[in-house]
Amino acid sequence: MCRKDEETGLSCSNECNDRFVLTVPDFLEQRLSDFEEVSIKTRLNGKPLVLGKKPDQHSIILQSNDYLNISMHPDISRAQIEKLEKAGQELVMSAVFMHDGSDKALFESSMAEFAGFESAILCQSGWAANVGLMQVIADSTTPVYIDFLTHMSLWEGIKSAGAIPHMFMHNDTGHLEKLVQQHGKGIILVDSLYSTTGDIAPLRDIIDIANRYDCVSVVDESHSLGTHGPQGRGLVASLGLTDRVHFITGSLAKAFAGRAGIILCSNRFARCYPYMAHPAIFSSAILPHEIAGLATTLGIIAAGDERRVKLYENAEFLRDGLRDLGYAIVSQSQIISLEPGTEPETEALRDALEDRNVFGSVFCAPATPKNRALMRFSVHCGFERDELQYVLDVCDAIRDEVGMRNWKSTKRNKGGAK
Ligand SMILES: Cc1ncc(COP(=O)(O)O)c(C=O)c1O
Repeated sequence: MCRKDEETGLSCSNECNDRFVLTVPDFLEQRLSDFEEVSIKTRLNGKPLVLGKKPDQHSIILQSNDYLNISMHPDISRAQIEKLEKAGQELVMSAVFMHDGSDKALFESSMAEFAGFESAILCQSGWAANVGLMQVIADSTTPVYIDFLTHMSLWEGIKSAGAIPHMFMHNDTGHLEKLVQQHGKGIILVDSLYSTTGDIAPLRDIIDIANRYDCVSVVDESHSLGTHGPQGRGLVASLGLTDRVHFITGSLAKAFAGRAGIILCSNRFARCYPYMAHPAIFSSAILPHEIAGLATTLGIIAAGDERRVKLYENAEFLRDGLRDLGYAIVSQSQIISLEPGTEPETEALRDALEDRNVFGSVFCAPATPKNRALMRFSVHCGFERDELQYVLDVCDAIRDEVGMRNWKSTKRNKGGAK
């Protein structure tokens, strides 16, 4: 019994190291130990699959979503510091209490202008943006058509709105159209660029279906805002579809390298959203110095053509090189995944890469289906060619060790391994 136990007479777990830990009822104990059995104790290093070794300063880290490599930009830090130094006058509160002319409102208007929408709503995260949006636009009577690989935050939004999901096969517009014909007008949800596979949605066809069947269209551009389109305005803009899409959402924790999310929308929607969406009402708004950083970031992104060109070159070099080695790469972008499939195979790949100082991000259930675990490489524009060549050399050297030729993804790939 620990000291606190003696003082209080309550019992605690043996692992408390003299800190007070209240025992939990059986049902919770069971849930936690089930998770540990399946997801931690089965791993060789005793940690969840997503955690391998710690990288060091010599590691090649392909994990960051800072695609334009601007998170350390001195102008962004300076803008944040200057704001922090005089932030005393700002209130820390929910956005519902903010008036016109606030820093938040000014940034929203710059984002709307940048993206070619009437309005923008700054949210605390991409997750909050998607959940809040769905709470406002859907209810239990609304059919929602959603691509199988669309981000979890939109699935969570459907759940939280109590709406009815109709999932269509990934990028399969024929399947989407059939479902819409069957269930009637509703909401179509897609990502422009998929965060696990790095492939791109057939946006023209999807938006065409949305418009023909009078559906509301929502495109999550988290991984294409800043990286794609003129001045980084995104894939919808680059295809000239801006005036045919109802909502674009995005995380500003990718190319924008901050901690926020955005909804691009109409003026009317923006007037209602703050008082209807629970994340807007019941959670505090992001802070003035974060907004100051984002406002500076927006200028850097708009002027970032050189960074985008380097990003495309780097991504293409790595994609092509991996394909030449026989890896099945479906990516069309800076997100490039190797898909061993099973968790033990993915663990072996992770270890083989990390032993050679290359670090990607493991994606497994619940981020992927159980048998589709993968290793995601996120490319940014700051990589030098020799660093990416080193990654290719490593991927070449480990092909036998990780059993790449026997992965399901390799076998599915028409060309097969060389
Ligand atoms: C496509 C997509 N949408 C939304 C989000 C959520 O963004 P945030 O991290 O800002 O909550 C992510 C982040 O992983 C994402 O990849």
